[in-house]
Amino acid sequence: MANLGYAQAAVSTAFRAVAYVFLEVIPHSAAKYVLSVLYVAYLVLYSLQPPPALEPTTKEEHSNGEAKVPFPTEDTTKELVETKTESEDSKPLPSIPTPAEESSSLTALLLSLPTPSRPLRLANLFINTLLAAAALEFITYPYFDDAAGVVYTRVGAVYPDAAKIVVRYPGLVGFNQTNATVQLAWRQVPKSGAVESDVWKDGPSALLSEELDWVNTVKLSSLWPSTTYEYTLRDANKTQLPYPSSPIRFRTFPDPYLNSGVNFRFLASSCIVPNFPYTPLQGRTIKGFDLLADYLWPKNTPGKFTMPPPSTSTPTPAETESADESAAGTSALDQPEPTAAPVFSVNAQTVEPVASKAPTEFMIFMGDFIYADVPIYYGDDKEAYRRLYRRNYQSPSFRKVYERLPFIHTYDDHEIINNYAGHSNDSSPPFANANDAFALYNAQGNYDSSQQGEHYYDFRHGDVAFFVMDTRRHRSIIEETDEPSRTMLGEQQLTALYDWLGRVNNTATFKFIVSSVPFTGLWTYEGEYETWNGFQYEKASLLNALHTVPNVILLSGDRHEFAAIEFPSANPARTVYEISTSPLSMFYIPLIRTLKKQSEDVINRTKEVVNVLEDGTTETVIVTEEVPQEKVLKYIADGNYKWSSIEVDTRDRQNPVANIDIIIDGKNAYSLTIRGEPVKLSPSMALGAYVPQSFKGVLGKIGLNPSSWF
Ligand SMILES: *[C@@H]1O[C@H](CO)[C@@H](O)[C@H](O)[C@H]1NC(C)=O
Ligand SMILES: *[C@@H]1O[C@H](CO)[C@@H](O)[C@H](O)[C@H]1NC(C)=O
Ligand SMILES: *[C@@H]1O[C@H](CO)[C@@H](O)[C@H](O)[C@H]1NC(C)=O
Ligand SMILES: *[C@@H]1O[C@H](CO)[C@@H](O)[C@H](O)[C@H]1NC(C)=O
Ligand SMILES: *[C@@H]1O[C@H](CO)[C@@H](O)[C@H](O)[C@H]1NC(C)=O
Ligand SMILES: *[C@@H]1O[C@H](CO)[C@@H](O)[C@H](O)[C@H]1NC(C)=O
Repeated sequence: MANLGYAQAAVSTAFRAVAYVFLEVIPHSAAKYVLSVLYVAYLVLYSLQPPPALEPTTKEEHSNGEAKVPFPTEDTTKELVETKTESEDSKPLPSIPTPAEESSSLTALLLSLPTPSRPLRLANLFINTLLAAAALEFITYPYFDDAAGVVYTRVGAVYPDAAKIVVRYPGLVGFNQTNATVQLAWRQVPKSGAVESDVWKDGPSALLSEELDWVNTVKLSSLWPSTTYEYTLRDANKTQLPYPSSPIRFRTFPDPYLNSGVNFRFLASSCIVPNFPYTPLQGRTIKGFDLLADYLWPKNTPGKFTMPPPSTSTPTPAETESADESAAGTSALDQPEPTAAPVFSVNAQTVEPVASKAPTEFMIFMGDFIYADVPIYYGDDKEAYRRLYRRNYQSPSFRKVYERLPFIHTYDDHEIINNYAGHSNDSSPPFANANDAFALYNAQGNYDSSQQGEHYYDFRHGDVAFFVMDTRRHRSIIEETDEPSRTMLGEQQLTALYDWLGRVNNTATFKFIVSSVPFTGLWTYEGEYETWNGFQYEKASLLNALHTVPNVILLSGDRHEFAAIEFPSANPARTVYEISTSPLSMFYIPLIRTLKKQSEDVINRTKEVVNVLEDGTTETVIVTEEVPQEKVLKYIADGNYKWSSIEVDTRDRQNPVANIDIIIDGKNAYSLTIRGEPVKLSPSMALGAYVPQSFKGVLGKIGLNPSSWF
């Protein structure tokens, strides 16, 4: 019987350990099987235990109890409970209640040790059943809270003269109807001090249908550059709808023709799973977005030169809870002002204070927005995929952010299935259903691709250019394809990327390239084949091309870690950087480190060295040094909540700069300043797309208020 008791203790302890890891450390898909088996085994062993004897407080009970419990062999000294609980030894069970007995009860509870005490045994059963219920809640949450009724609107792609707006509004239809229209009403936000606001103008209408899950995207055009607008929603009869209860605001991008440079921020991160790490009954919380909202719009905005109170960066449980109230009425601020304690930017060479922050204009979400297959795969089913997107938009944490900040997206494997490689075959399951949901909820709000139906795209913000890759749909299946014929992007997308590189080369100051998976080959384990490392030939020729273009910065996610990497070239001015930041709100792996410090491959880099000669004159000699092809500048693995906040400042043409802040768990964990090469911008056909509207911006620039002319 004693063996049975200890078997139960072992099974119970294993169950608790796995449940803890599953709910708080890594929600690995396999854990659900392990947990089920362990829980059932625990129940069986529990039921096989003989009923406890009558009086568990007399010594005699121990000898006829189900377990042999050693009598005290050591002094029952007062110890902190915590130190006892960490001990694996079973503690003595004296018959008279003493501090030692209390702590041994605790040990019995923690380790499910055989005990004659019925309450203790029941308590153990209760704890394990609660853990099983928690795991069940976490796994099945999306199924029971399917967010079918979620109403939301958000801004996606923003242009100098337009914005894409996504609307979901179910429940507007009458009996037997299968569709409804929602119309935008919009106006320019009056400048502060202006007495009257503009009248509301009729905007485009979105046809919502059951078939397309009541979500659609419209483009609001003919807007002025660098201007703040607001919009609300009306039904087909032009009656104001209850949501949004106050207008949603956004600001158009600057006119790319005005060669004055730009100063703005944007955010980048990836990977979210609601309510992970798990808290009971918080299935709609995405803590990373709670932290992000506090970061962008601190509740107590500190004075310009004062330190914020220490509490602003980490929300208390009460603050997290308040996220549950509907954020439908959140009013948008004209200029979101990220505020943080004065930080020092750490360049490889210099340390200097960061100037006041520019407004944050958008966020690039780099994939793993849903985890279709974690902790459970609900199958290759349209509704199963759609549900997970709805679920995120239902989150009050996310709502606080997307109602005030434009979002653009790319996907990664978990929007489809783990380690998906599409091989340009859209018929290979589960791409069709996964793509349906991604397109409806996230991709339609992005900038249009140069190829209809594709998910890669490019855009500009002033003289800063972006290319967002699709690294899943066209990727070769590694096991089936040998180098050098493997491709990450597919021929068409590669062509688009090289074409873009050529166009932005001398027409944009900074070039950001977004890849859901890291470009660097320094990540080990799965990183060795899941990242660009598995596509050596394509990567090498792309890197060669990137080294001919000034000021290229790669952005990636996926690894649930942060790293800043440099890829030097022979010309020291042409170093390419990669900033890989994730997860926004998901697991990280503690203790195990998965990034190599530098590559074994080296390149020869030239360097100018100034020598002072004996006669006082100087001479400049060019020396060659061998440096690693890829090198880690900074690596931070820990943290469930990470994002990068990138400030680009190109106003000083001779000294363009990108200040990158890495925020982890709500606090600034690292800053990097990348000084760009001056780029002499050539007026180019690359801007052709904006020609029809550009004259408006010119008028605005010379101080006229042209909006009243039309
Ligand atoms: C609604 O549809 C059902 C079946 O499609 C039909 O029998 C019914 O008459 C319709 N009701 C109305 C009010 O149109
Ligand atoms: C919308 O629904 C109405 C009636 O339910 C139908 O007559 C119309 O064809 C539908 N429109 C579209 C575009 O599906
Ligand atoms: C619009 O008004 C008409 C007539 O009053 C009404 O029948 C219809 O249901 C209304 N539609 C909506 C979407 O409110
Ligand atoms: C694409 O995938 C489908 C489903 O797996 C398969 O039947 C078809 O042969 C594939 N097509 C190509 C061109 O590989
Ligand atoms: C970028 O421009 C430079 C010359 O200014 C040229 O040498 C280089 O090949 C160009 N790179 C690409 C990718 O077009
Ligand atoms: C770097 O230059 C040295 C001397 O010129 C040469 O021996 C070496 O092979 C070069 N290394 C690489 C990686 O090109």
